[in-house]
Amino acid sequence: MSIPLSDRELSLRFLAMSGMAQELGELASRYFADQGSLNTQMKGAQDFVTEADHAVEVLFRKQIAAAFPDDSVMGEEMGGGGTDRLWIIDPIDGTANFARGDRQWCISIGFVAAGRPELGIIHAPSIGETYLGRRGQGATLNGKPIRAAETRDIRRSVVEFGWSTRMPTRLYIEAVERLYELGAHVKRSGSGALGLAQVAAGRTDGYAELHINSWDAAAALLIAEEAGARINEFFSGDWLEKGNPILATAPNLWEVIREASGIANAPPSAN
Ligand code: IPD
Ligand code: CA
Repeated sequence: MSIPLSDRELSLRFLAMSGMAQELGELASRYFADQGSLNTQMKGAQDFVTEADHAVEVLFRKQIAAAFPDDSVMGEEMGGGGTDRLWIIDPIDGTANFARGDRQWCISIGFVAAGRPELGIIHAPSIGETYLGRRGQGATLNGKPIRAAETRDIRRSVVEFGWSTRMPTRLYIEAVERLYELGAHVKRSGSGALGLAQVAAGRTDGYAELHINSWDAAAALLIAEEAGARINEFFSGDWLEKGNPILATAPNLWEVIREASGIANAPPSAN
């Protein structure tokens, strides 16, 4: 049986997260600044991995082993699991952007206690933005509270729709078409974590994706929820191991975006 974490134990981790992310961001930024020497490989079509992804995850594992030796780590590049005191890291989210010198990338770190996300940080050093969230205590951007947008008219809305080869492209195209027909501005910027953070900051009115992995979403979805966005039941079923469809929207546009995105009807996991 799992023993719940005390408030103090969570606070210790919340305080440690920013310093750890800062150090990881400095490491990633050194690779980013030296694009000419960056070693990049493909895991599949449009699925990039760079030496920076590995280096950041390795350093994070060392940080956790030193500061919280009883905690476990799950990462995009090296796997892992365990649910009682689990850190989830996406060492570079928006790797395709990172590998092309586009500054829209971030480090995403979430902390899950007994299967429930409690803490999250999205650190995007190239654009000078750090988002933080703690369950029940709100969300901040660079230390200032943030709120989801109050947009009511879909014709004024901006919705980001994420895409990957994990789901049939036809479903993505059809959902994007439905949103355009309603009058939404649809975009895709290549980092699911930063896309969700934009909803939290009130800069966009929704982030949708037919399937996303836990390391992309654990931190940013908590931040979006804490900022007042409405979110789907992403944290259910085998979300940690297999991911799920994801939707986060400005509260007043929940119904219309959910309907158009098809997320409610999406299959529970990837192909
Ligand atoms: C991907 C990005 C992308 C999202 C994909 C993710 P990566 O992660 O977040 O925006 O649409 O689902 O796999 O490959 O940049 O770490
Ligand atoms: Ca990712």
